[in-house]
This record gives sequence, C-alpha cells and structure tokens, in this order.
Amino acid sequence: MEKIETAVRNAVIRGTGHYIPPTVLTNADLERMVDTSNNWIVERTGIRERRILNGDREWGTSDMAVAAARQALADAQMDPSRLEAILVATVTPDFPLPSTASIVQLKLGASRSAVMDVVAACAGFIYALSVARAFIVSGVYRNVLVIGVERLSSITNYQDRNTCVLFGDGAGAAILSRGEPGEEDKGILSTFLSGDGQYKDLLHIPLGGSSVPLTAKNVDQPGRFIYMDGREVFKLAVREMADAAERVLAGAGVSADDVDMLIPHQANQRIIEALGKRMNFGPDRVFVNIDRLGNTSSASVPIALDEARRSGRIGPGSLVLSVAFGGGLTWGAVLYRL
Ligand SMILES: CC(C)(COP(=O)(O)OP(=O)(O)OC[C@H]1O[C@@H](n2cnc3c(N)ncnc32)[C@H](O)[C@@H]1OP(=O)(O)O)[C@@H](O)C(=O)NCCC(=O)NCCS
Repeated sequence: MEKIETAVRNAVIRGTGHYIPPTVLTNADLERMVDTSNNWIVERTGIRERRILNGDREWGTSDMAVAAARQALADAQMDPSRLEAILVATVTPDFPLPSTASIVQLKLGASRSAVMDVVAACAGFIYALSVARAFIVSGVYRNVLVIGVERLSSITNYQDRNTCVLFGDGAGAAILSRGEPGEEDKGILSTFLSGDGQYKDLLHIPLGGSSVPLTAKNVDQPGRFIYMDGREVFKLAVREMADAAERVLAGAGVSADDVDMLIPHQANQRIIEALGKRMNFGPDRVFVNIDRLGNTSSASVPIALDEARRSGRIGPGSLVLSVAFGGGLTWGAVLYRL
C-alpha cells in the first residue's frame, strides 16, 4: 500500500518580551481610595502592588503591546517584516474599531501581515497562542506575533473594593515560528481551550457594548466597569484550570512530574496555590509575580513567561505548562518545550 507522508510542522517559541508601566499603585494607595486594608489584600489575594498606565503618558494598549513586541522580536532576532500574522489578546482595545492588532502592525512597521484581536479575557493569551499554533502547524504561516495586553485600569471601578484591588496593566509578547529541522522536540506540544457562556454574568461589563450602548444617562453608572462575582469565579477557576492542565498533559503523554515550570494566569495567589497543590507542584516549580503586578488578565501569562526566561528560572529545553481562566467564562492550557 502506498505510504502517504504528511509533513508535521511544529510551532516553537522563538522570542519573548514584556512591558510593565512605571507607575506603581500600592495597597497603601488603595487604602486611601476604598474601604480596604493592606492585610486583607495580601491575605486574600497575595497582591502587594500593581502597575498602572498613567494618564499623563499618552499611551494606550497598543503602545504597551508594541513595547513588548519589540523586545520579543529582538529576542528572536527577527525583523517585523517577517511577521505573517499578529494576534492581540485583549479586552481593553485602543478602540472598538479597528482592532488593536491593526494599530500594532502599523506602529511596528509590519505591513501586510494578517491582523486580529482575540477576545477571551484572562484566557486570551492561551487562546491566541493556540490559534497561532494552528496557523503554523497547518502550514498557513511561518512567523506569528502573539501579544497579551491589557489596560485594565481603564475599565476598573476605583470605588469598588471587590475588584479595584486586583487589577493592573501590562503587556507580554511571544514570537511563534515554524520549527526548523532538528527542533522537532521543541515548541507547543498540546493545547486545550474551553468555555461556558452560562456563566457570562459572573465576570462582565454590562454597559457600553452594542446591546446597551453608553448614553448621556448611563455614562456615570458603575456598569461601564468590570463586575465580578469573585467567590463563584474562584471555585470554578481552580476546578477548570486543573482539568485543562490534566488534559494537555494527557494530550502530550507526559506527567505533571515532567513539567519544569507551571506558569499560570495570575488572578489570585490562593488560586495558584490551590492549583499547585492539586497537581503536586511545589513553589519551586510555580512561577508567581502577582505580588508585584496583580491580575493583568491576558497579559499575565506572557509577562510571567518572559520574566521566567529572563531570570533564568526556565531556559532551552524546559517543559512549561501554562493555564488560564477568565470572563466568558473561558479557560485553557498550553504545554510547550522551550
Ligand atoms: C475577589 C477575591 C479576591 C475575593 O476574595 P474572597 O475570599 O472570595 O472574598 P469574598 O468575596 O468571599 O468576600 C469576603 C468579604 O470581604 C469583603 N471584601 C471584598 N473586597 C474587599 C477588599 N478589597 N477589602 C476588604 N474587604 C473586602 C467582601 O465585601 C466580603 O464581605 P462580607 O462577607 O461582609 O460580604 C476572590 O474571590 C478571587 O480572587 N476570585 C477569583 C478571581 C478570578 O480568578 N478571576 C478570574 C480571572 S480575572
């Protein structure tokens, strides 16, 4: 019988980068804004400070994305002209139209690449990375820039102590490229994405979309900011992130013991610890930066990945597991070897 050879392509991470704004918002600052305390915030979330894109710098989401992307391109030693697609995961785009990816393309000088935003809240980077991998594995593109970026401070209600202590701004980026001969064991080994719209109201912004547009009457309502039922989201987050992690491990035929580093979405220190405990990961194998950056939604995983690489906690050959969970609800996991 004739044997058909199919070229199996893999998608490797060629470079990473990140950007965090210089302005620090501490728990002491928040104590002056809402009825909260440093003790409560640290105990319940692990967060000590977060970064905010200050209004006195005329920067938006795309500028943070470009700063992270430039670092990732330099790391990959790649000219922007070689990018064939740019995917930007964000729920805080510069504008409703056009996509932030279009603006990033222009600012980077990466003309003619495909451009699109991916909206999957805190799971956005995991979603975008999975889409990029699918493009590469199927042979459509060779080099894809994937960015997770948020200016959550622009959709945070700084009078709502339930949410304003959690969120921060920032951007992370990765260049995903088709693997070269000899790199067969590197790159993304397996992915899993899921979601459940029945929980859409647990974490949402009720006002300002096409369903309920902003008007002169409702523009001052808290509904234009993020609302979250933290307690419910917390329960589901631990369960579904653990399930997603198990699935990608099974998909690649490896065990949790083989993983060098868990780089989870940074939503809450207690969620990260619960996940680590369930999967038998000690603190030495879990990357945490939530104390310094808070929850930066889709930016949290790529910022953490870049920090982990640049600090030497992971390097060539490391097996890394990333899991995330967010509004939608959405969740997913990616297993990759650097
Ligand atoms: C938001 C979160 C930190 C709240 O922690 P929690 O332990 O669940 O706290 P609860 O919601 O049960 O609230 C406990 C009490 O603290 C109060 N509280 C909430 N925020 C507070 C704050 N910043 N300071 C002081 N008290 C606060 C609440 O009002 C509540 O008071 P009550 O019991 O009198 O009603 C936590 O639920 C969480 O991290 N949830 C998941 C977030 C997440 O994963 N999001 C998805 C990705 S973005």
